[in-house]
Amino acid sequence: MPIKFDSEQKQFHLYTKKFSLVINLFTTRDKNVVPLIRYYGAPLKGLYFYESEMFANGFDTQNTTLPFALPTSGHGDFRPLMLRVRNQDGNDCTLLNFIGYEIISGKPQLEGLPSTYAENDGDCTSLILHLRDIYCGLDAFYCLTVFEEIGALCTSVKYKSYSNHPLTLERYSSVCLDLPSSFDVLHLQGAWARERSVERVPASHLTCKIQSNRGASSHQHNPFVALVSEDANEFTGECYGVNLVYSGSFSIEVDNDSYSRTRLVAGVNEENNFWTLEPGETFQTPEAVCAYSSSGLNEMSNIFHDLYRKHLCRGEYRDKVRPILINNWEATYFNFNEEKLLNIATEGKELGMELFVLDDGWFGKRDNDTSSLGDWYTDMNKLPSGLLSLSNALHDMGMKFGLWFEPEMISPNSDLFRQHSDWVLHAPNHYITTSRTQYILDMSRRDVQDYLIDCISKVLSENKVDYVKWDMNRNFAEIGSLDCSGKTCAIPHRYMLGVYRVMEEVTSAFPNILFEGCSGGGGRFDAGMLYYMPQIWASDNSDAVSRLKIQYGTSMVYPPSSICAHVSAIPNHQTKRQTPLATRGLTAMSGVFGYELDLTNLTPEEKEAIKTQVELNKKLRSIIMHGKLTRLISPFEGDHNLCAWQFTYKEDVLVFAFQILQNANNLSPYMKLKNLEDGLYKDISSEKVFDSQFLENRGLRLPFCRPGQQRDGDFQAALYQFKKIEA
Ligand code: GLA
Repeated sequence: MPIKFDSEQKQFHLYTKKFSLVINLFTTRDKNVVPLIRYYGAPLKGLYFYESEMFANGFDTQNTTLPFALPTSGHGDFRPLMLRVRNQDGNDCTLLNFIGYEIISGKPQLEGLPSTYAENDGDCTSLILHLRDIYCGLDAFYCLTVFEEIGALCTSVKYKSYSNHPLTLERYSSVCLDLPSSFDVLHLQGAWARERSVERVPASHLTCKIQSNRGASSHQHNPFVALVSEDANEFTGECYGVNLVYSGSFSIEVDNDSYSRTRLVAGVNEENNFWTLEPGETFQTPEAVCAYSSSGLNEMSNIFHDLYRKHLCRGEYRDKVRPILINNWEATYFNFNEEKLLNIATEGKELGMELFVLDDGWFGKRDNDTSSLGDWYTDMNKLPSGLLSLSNALHDMGMKFGLWFEPEMISPNSDLFRQHSDWVLHAPNHYITTSRTQYILDMSRRDVQDYLIDCISKVLSENKVDYVKWDMNRNFAEIGSLDCSGKTCAIPHRYMLGVYRVMEEVTSAFPNILFEGCSGGGGRFDAGMLYYMPQIWASDNSDAVSRLKIQYGTSMVYPPSSICAHVSAIPNHQTKRQTPLATRGLTAMSGVFGYELDLTNLTPEEKEAIKTQVELNKKLRSIIMHGKLTRLISPFEGDHNLCAWQFTYKEDVLVFAFQILQNANNLSPYMKLKNLEDGLYKDISSEKVFDSQFLENRGLRLPFCRPGQQRDGDFQAALYQFKKIEA
């Protein structure tokens, strides 16, 4: 078992190949026993230690500095806290006392929430700490799970009230890390069309907060932070990555105290989210995942990738390569008819594509974005023969059929709004703000959830649908619900629980359908979504150059098998940039590959090139899907002009390299490969054989610039394919 309890030292040791976590039971002056995090870092080889670094003079001082595993409010801990409970007296004094523990094989399921899971016995082991606040009448079950092989730690808390009075949970976070030194904070920030840029903030004596209060994990911030040592880079240094398995409003606080120690607390955002716990009720927090690496960011990312590919994503497509799709959005927007769609699909089929996706505009009377969300029945003016006929025609030509939905939304101009205006998320007596001319459905209501489950299921079962793109195109404004007028009702969190219920029902009723998440591009790219949908549209920005940063940043946490990327037309619709087709192809091939342009307008040369790209992707996609990703050159560093990443799977190695702007009379630098086994590697195209030591230590000179030579202009890309061979 990778979890041991030493009763003499009163110490738990959770250990894996990648980290050790030591939790010590500490007796305070007033005889409370509280769990403290005494060590989290590189694996200890079963070595127990006792470190007494606490300041023992005075209760207040002690509480100010102790590394509590689950810090609570109202007793002199001034740093970010995991739990604040308002008790029957109206104060927030809470102290969770250790009652007992359990060590179990596997992990408990989180009711109503997405979470990582064990597939086989031995995949993971959990320690459940049972803690109690006698005065409030509240029990906490803090679950810490270790995935031994992968080296990940997952945490969550379940609360149970045994009070006679309602208690209000004002804050209920999922994890707290208390570390003895300072770290740089690395996180992912952005906006619509430029999601998940890597930003690194040097260590400072500040409390910083990364959050979303928008009702979705958001384009602006991702529920991820890495605390990294000053010397850390992609290949060296300590990194503590924390990611929430949650898709709604969240917050992650990092506090560097006056003794230069760091506390990180992550969980549901407390804004508008006070949760009333009635006597006898339980409450489950979302899960947090921690990935520790002593050898840089790549290893941290690989821990997240391995865990999410094998123990978070589910369903038929978890391990299956994904069909190459052609999506009609950037080809036609709302302006299409059946003939146009079939012409695009026929071209796609000829070029080797496997799935045709009909995007927005097929339902209600939706000729632009001002109407019909909620009316999930076919627009018979646009598609007079109906969806089934289209689906049959596609299947007859050997193409799968995909369909777009935006289930959580309602247009003011829709039949649904005319019938159920009370279903809109709103605050009584307040104006209801629109965004993209739409309102949000109150997903906290059971009747709304049931309506969506029924009508989506009807469309899917009647029309032989093979793929669904599940979009969500706006954020919250007025947060209220008729269901709980006058009460604190945690609408943002209840909204997410409602969304998760609908997703669970629909995805489990249609296990053969491939689901793809989306939110105005990548506005809800998070681990919560990956539990229901193994892939997510990374950004509405399909420009290859912009995508380098977006995909690089996304891969900090999320595996390439989840990052959808398409080849689109030039000039690009978001940036007006003109990039070569080969560069667009190699950028998109680095994730889940597809096309999003009008295939009926291609020149014969473009068709030939696309056919070759599709064939190449069919050969390479299983390496990209299952392989280990190593980021070699960051587009966020140096002069931001180069980017490269490598996929390693069994004996295959692929390296994708990109140069943004051309340089006259210059010489490209060397690029060193990583993670090769000792031996010989053959370059498939040149048939040249290289020693692994040569590739790792000297590397390959990038092909983009040579002194005095006129090269190929801006936005170049190169692919290297190596295979390990017998000596
Ligand atoms: C969002 C998505 C796009 C497309 C449109 C349709 O913006 O991100 O890919 O589906 O909606 O309205």
